[in-house]
This record gives sequence, structure tokens and C-alpha cells, in this order.
Amino acid sequence: MKTQIVEINEKSLALAKNVIEGGGLVAFPTETVYGLGANAFCDDAVKQIYAVKGRPQDNPLIVHVHKDYDIERLVCDIPSYAKKLAEKFLPGPLTMVYKSRGAVSPTVSCGLDTLAVRIPSHEGAQRFLKYLDLPIAAPSANISKHVSPTSAEHVLADLNGKIPYILDGGASRGGIESTVLDVTGEKPCILRSGLITKEMIAEVAGSCDVFIPKEGVKVRSPGMKYKHYSPNCCTMLFPFDRIEQAKEAYLSETAKGVNAYIMCDSACAEVLGVKNILCLGKTEEEIAASLYGKLREGEQVAELIIAIAPEKQDGIMAGVMNRLTKACGGKQ
Ligand code: TXA
Ligand code: MG
Repeated sequence: MKTQIVEINEKSLALAKNVIEGGGLVAFPTETVYGLGANAFCDDAVKQIYAVKGRPQDNPLIVHVHKDYDIERLVCDIPSYAKKLAEKFLPGPLTMVYKSRGAVSPTVSCGLDTLAVRIPSHEGAQRFLKYLDLPIAAPSANISKHVSPTSAEHVLADLNGKIPYILDGGASRGGIESTVLDVTGEKPCILRSGLITKEMIAEVAGSCDVFIPKEGVKVRSPGMKYKHYSPNCCTMLFPFDRIEQAKEAYLSETAKGVNAYIMCDSACAEVLGVKNILCLGKTEEEIAASLYGKLREGEQVAELIIAIAPEKQDGIMAGVMNRLTKACGGKQ
């Protein structure tokens, strides 16, 4: 199969609709990362997502719908705080996990009685979802465990020959995946951090928990137990207050002939003054938006990426730290 990157227009939307209605897969842009979409009502199509990505069978998928879709067709028992959150943050990078009505293929939620629903704000995603008027099950459009894609070219690099079309909506501006929030309890609980932060959620909902996986406690978001977001090269991660040790590691590895690069923000890059830098930018937004692109660039040019964690670790940086730690083989 030849994979084509296509601009989003009437013609490509009609082609995409044909594929999706026929039980096939189409990649599409969102404001966080690119998604690999299938008709959520079609069990065979949803199973294909797992096969194409090599995704573990017990890691459930998010269903994507357009902004005028009535989600009560899919889920029930929506608490009032979730309605307030939807009003404030949707469409946008917030996924909420509700009690499922069991309307979509059971493979979407891997047999759980909940369903994760997301309404992306990206204009191209909205056009695609509206044109189809179907709930679209979609994980990030990368091979399982690899770095998530933030451009059509990243998707092609991972899925070339495996899907017919990639709808091109430019670079994803957010850069890390949506916040996944469990809204089945009395209080909201973050299962995966992202661009909608704990602080932002607590301001609207009154409070917000963060689920921290512990030995022996059942994992509430199965995706949390897997290695993720990893570039195909060696990695090391240093905390912000260990800049000097990171530089020493860079110098000693370079002296041994290892092609090493340091990945850090622009202020840190200035202090270090070394040659091989993968600079993530200055602001928190820039750092989140460039993280996956830089990890992919790094695996092309480097044998070893030495990452230095950002100084700040709350707000958006909580999501960045979570991805960076996992990319570098950590368990966070
Ligand atoms: O930004 C995003 O969320 C992107 C774009 C494409 O929308 N999608 C994405 O999907 O990141 P994926 O499959 O890579 O991650 C979905 C996460 C996983 O951690 C999974 O365990 C969790 O959502 N999840 C899905 N359904 C769930 C459920 N019913 N209960 C708990 N966690 C769930
Ligand atoms: Mg993913």
C-alpha cells in the first residue's frame, strides 16, 4: 500500500470517509499530536489500530468527536463538574473518561466499563470529524513505544505503507498529548498530565487529584505502565540542578567518540556552550511543542541524547517531565 500525505480539502475528506466507512485507518492532525483514526463502531477497524501500531491489547483508546456531537449517545452519568470543565476547556486538549453506554466497539476500551472522549480544537480535526459524523477511535499515530508524531512527516516515518492517507494539518501546536481526566468519581482525577493542568482543572472543578501508580494498586489508565515516547538511540536524563554532571557526561562520551547531543531549554544551552545541542526553546509552550520533534531529530543525528530536565516542574511542565522521563526509560 502506498501512503499519501494529503492536504485537507473536499476531495481528501471524501477519500478519507471512504476508507473509514470501509473499515480502514486514516491519520489526522490534532492540536496535541497526530491521531490514527478508525470508526469506533466497527470492531474490525479498531482491532486494526492495535495491529498496525503493535499496541498492547490492554491499553484502551480515546474516541474523538466533533464539537456538535452529542456525547450522551456514547456515555452516561456525566457529573456537573465535568460539564463545567467541558464548557471551559472544550474543544481542546482535555480527554475525559466517563461511564460508557457500551455503544462503541468493546475493543476501544479493552472491555472496561468506561470510555475516554476527546473533542480536539484543531480546525482540520474538526473538519474531518464533522465530515464523517462518527466517533473516531484514535491513539497517537506512531508505532507503539516510539515518539508521538507532531507532523504528517513524522506519521509517514512510522506508518509508511501501512495506511492509505495522512491528512496534513501542519505542525501540532500543543506538542504533548491531551490531559486524561477520570470523571467517574466525586472529584476529577488526572490519569495522564498534559496541557490542561491540575491547577486549571481545580480552578473550575473545585479540586483535582492526580493518580500516582503504586506497587500493588490497580492501574487506572493502562497506558501508564508501558515504556513510551522513546527515540531509537541511547538516552540519559539529568535533573536541572545537575547541569555540570550532564556536561561532564557529554564531554567524556564525546571524547570516547560517541556522537552525543544535549537536549535542554535555551537558557541552559547558553550556560553550557557546547557544540551539539537539541534546543527545546525558551517558554513552557515552546518546550512542550518542540519536545517530540527534537527527540525525533535527535534519533536521526545522535547516538546518545543527554537530556536536562526543565527547572520548573508544575503546570505544563508536569506533562513535559512525564514524557521526558518515559522517553529516557524512566517509570514516572
Ligand atoms: O492528545 C491525545 O490524547 C492524542 C490525540 C491523537 O488525540 N491521543 C493519544 O492517544 O494520546 P493514546 O492512545 O496514545 O493515549 C490514550 C491514553 C492512554 O494512556 C490510555 O491508557 C488512556 O488514554 N485511556 C484511554 N481510554 C481509557 C479509559 N477508558 N480509562 C482510562 N484510561 C484510558
Ligand atoms: Mg500514544
